[in-house]
Amino acid sequence: MVKLQLLLVFVTSLLFQGSKQAQYSLTNRIINGENAAPKQFPYQVFIEKHVNYDWKPNCGGVVISNRTVLTAAHCIKDSIDAFKIYFGTVDRTNIYETGQQRLIVKRKNIIGHPEYDPHELLNDIALIRLPAEILFDEYIQPAKLPDPDKLYDNEIGVASGWGISDRDSWYAKNNLQYLNVTIFPYEDCKALVHKYNYAKFFPSSFVCLKSSQGSPCKGDSGGPLAIRNEDGTSTIVGLTSFGVSETCEPNMPGIFTRVSSFLQWIKENE
Ligand SMILES: *[C@@H]1O[C@H](CO)[C@@H](O)[C@H](O)[C@H]1NC(C)=O
Ligand SMILES: *[C@@H]1O[C@H](CO)[C@@H](O)[C@H](O)[C@H]1NC(C)=O
Repeated sequence: MVKLQLLLVFVTSLLFQGSKQAQYSLTNRIINGENAAPKQFPYQVFIEKHVNYDWKPNCGGVVISNRTVLTAAHCIKDSIDAFKIYFGTVDRTNIYETGQQRLIVKRKNIIGHPEYDPHELLNDIALIRLPAEILFDEYIQPAKLPDPDKLYDNEIGVASGWGISDRDSWYAKNNLQYLNVTIFPYEDCKALVHKYNYAKFFPSSFVCLKSSQGSPCKGDSGGPLAIRNEDGTSTIVGLTSFGVSETCEPNMPGIFTRVSSFLQWIKENE
């Protein structure tokens, strides 16, 4: 069995160029998702990276306070000097969109987890310290941090992102996509992953999604798997990390970094 993790990382780099031969390099996007409406995912951000004097699509991320955004460690390369964060965004190509705000963050203000393992994709989490406090409004709101004692197994979650939305064309939509999904129980996912040797390790810091309807895909990395609370707020459960299907097939496990495994680290670094 090939080493799946490396094939599957949901980073966006080549994705948005719509090139067919680039498909295995593409980052995640949501396959078979629905168009998100403004204000529906106020905690979601879009992250571009600064390369060759230009801004290129990179990843998703999640607002957790007015000065902190979480993303995946695999989205933050040391070689990139700056990232541009889009807040309150649905159409990432429309810079005149109502509610949209953008901030540029230098690489030195991004803290990757010190034990991030790029081969096994362990500790795939990074924290972005914003250069200014973001003012919250209807378009921009933080997600709550998860309960450290809950697994959220079988709860209804929602994954969102600007990653690949169509496996046939390897095309990503400009409009934020989302997918309502049941969180696949941890023990069931671990058993499945071991049975098919999809990944060497399956630590409790992984959360899993497996849906017949759709999947995250390239370009969705770092973005949220959240649950909606009764009061209208959302709680972040996972950050999109990698998939065991390089073509983002439905019914194949998609793996997220379990945010509750990193609450102490977040507290110490935000
Ligand atoms: C940011 O959040 C902190 C803590 O909740 C609060 O004290 C501060 O006033 C907020 N800043 C802005 C600009 O809203
Ligand atoms: C997803 O769930 C939300 C919240 O329950 C609901 O408002 C929305 O209509 C659902 N979307 C789809 C496509 O089922």
